[in-house]
Amino acid sequence: MATQTPSTPTPLTAGTGTAFGVDVGGSGIKGALVDLATGEFIGDRLKILTPQPATPDAVAATVVELVRRFDWEGPVGLTLPSVIRGQTALSAANIDPSWIGTDITELFRRHLPGREVVALNDADAAGLAEVAYGEEASRHGSVIFLTFGTGIGSAFLLDGRLFPNTEVGHMLVNYQGTVDEAEHLASSAAKDREELSYKKWAKRVDVVLAEFQALFNPQLFIVGGGISRNHDKWLPRLEIATPVIPAKLRNRAGIVGAAMAVTDHLAP
Ligand code: BGC
Repeated sequence: MATQTPSTPTPLTAGTGTAFGVDVGGSGIKGALVDLATGEFIGDRLKILTPQPATPDAVAATVVELVRRFDWEGPVGLTLPSVIRGQTALSAANIDPSWIGTDITELFRRHLPGREVVALNDADAAGLAEVAYGEEASRHGSVIFLTFGTGIGSAFLLDGRLFPNTEVGHMLVNYQGTVDEAEHLASSAAKDREELSYKKWAKRVDVVLAEFQALFNPQLFIVGGGISRNHDKWLPRLEIATPVIPAKLRNRAGIVGAAMAVTDHLAP
């Protein structure tokens, strides 16, 4: 749908009712029913391995399978590791490059006819969920919310409102004389890939955050993603001046943000 990108209002409070969210990642596609009053899942989360290659049609078929397993007949919110503008994917990280240029509305008109489906960037979804159900500080002032996982995702927040599709994980950072993408250096996948200790990895996170700090000067960083569960192992090691606190929602955030986006019409 080649419509103008609407502004993205952000609900500073929880909503009502039940919605369905799906989080599309490089390794798994996860879905759950979300209670919008609390931001909690209703029942279990289901995960299906991401089909390879993760083309739009293959991913859409997996989303249909998740919807079917939940017997869900309402609208579907979806996160993707992509820039999404006017419901068109403009980038593709850890999913098939054929996503680039995909019209998501048209894709799901074919796979889930008659159903409202909206997509938004995975980190934007997680940031919106944090604002509505998580850390109170995410609602005030200039906040950079980051997810550390396969990549580094970002959601820029101002008084809880989202500036969508920032992609600071791809920013070039000079580390020990080598210039590399921030996420290649300091994602949690980089920690695993290079078998880095928390101490060594935290040094890299510090370098990356210092770069973001120098350019954007937020009041606060909030860090999410699976590795934020172990924040006591690395946050105390950071030397950066800007405060850095862990997200409250962690891995639930993407699904919850997707569910909010389709219900509250927040998707870009
Ligand atoms: C992608 C972002 C995504 C992030 C986390 C990056 O590689 O470019 O769109 O938010 O990974 O999945």
